[in-house]
Amino acid sequence: MDLNDAAKLLERSRHVVVFTGAGISAESGVPTFRDALTGLWSRFDAQSLATAQAFREDPDLVWGWYEWRRRIVQRVHPNQGHLAVARLATLVPQLTVITQNVDDLHERAGSASPVHLHGSLFAPRCATCARPAPLPSTPDQSGEGRRVPPPRCAHCDGLIRPGVVWFGEQLPEPALETAARAASACDVLLTVGTSGLVYPAAEIPRLAARSGAAVLQVNPRPTPLDPIATVNLPGPAAEVLPALLTAAWGGFPLA
Ligand SMILES: NC(=O)c1ccc[n+]([C@@H]2O[C@H](COP(=O)([O-])OP(=O)(O)OC[C@H]3O[C@@H](n4cnc5c(N)ncnc54)[C@H](O)[C@@H]3O)[C@@H](O)[C@H]2O)c1
Ligand SMILES: [Zn+2]
Repeated sequence: MDLNDAAKLLERSRHVVVFTGAGISAESGVPTFRDALTGLWSRFDAQSLATAQAFREDPDLVWGWYEWRRRIVQRVHPNQGHLAVARLATLVPQLTVITQNVDDLHERAGSASPVHLHGSLFAPRCATCARPAPLPSTPDQSGEGRRVPPPRCAHCDGLIRPGVVWFGEQLPEPALETAARAASACDVLLTVGTSGLVYPAAEIPRLAARSGAAVLQVNPRPTPLDPIATVNLPGPAAEVLPALLTAAWGGFPLA
């Protein structure tokens, strides 16, 4: 099974789910969690910074890390992979985009309302009363990032935390329900740039496979999803996704 088989499955599909992870944003310049952290963050690993415990113990460190990540995302652009996903919505009868990413590159590429299973860098909220909080306008600090004290809630003076799902936390119920419903109803699930290691999100492609959908996987490296994939398309998303769309529907510029 190769690119042309995958293209045929896609072209005939009535409902496609695209399921993305950090790998689709890697070529835009957003580091994945498996990339080594640099600068101030090189002494830490992402799995221990992205926890409620880390925020309780050292809120300035964790808030500073998320501000640094938000700045990276604001400076970069969607790549051909995100653009191909947005274009796919115009080519198949129904498309649901489910992402584990906390960046906004799908939206900026033109995908309407992707499901954010792990929250967003752009939706901070109060750690105490959970009310949404305004995004602070951070001065444009160059370089490596620094500790930044989190803002305080205007209602209860609690600390403002990033609106992301940390390791050990529950996924937002409505997002998880929408994702599970789409995964069990789709006929093709296209998984892109995810290690398939972070649960329960990694259940989504498995649920699609169990429900009888064809699973197409785009990733330059082997993943635990390889055995359930109907077609494995090794390579970077920004190359493979446009090639897949061209194989299915002919060439067109993605802008
Ligand atoms: N951009 C972001 O929003 C971002 C960045 C880092 C981490 N995260 C968080 O990381 C957690 C880890 O899960 P994950 O599976 O998303 O990421 P991950 O870091 O565990 O895995 C990334 C995967 O992408 C693959 N990859 C690397 N470059 C690629 C490319 N050019 N094209 C296609 N695939 C490529 C890697 O081989 C790997 O399998 C998630 O909870 C997510 O919220 C998000
Ligand atoms: Zn509050």
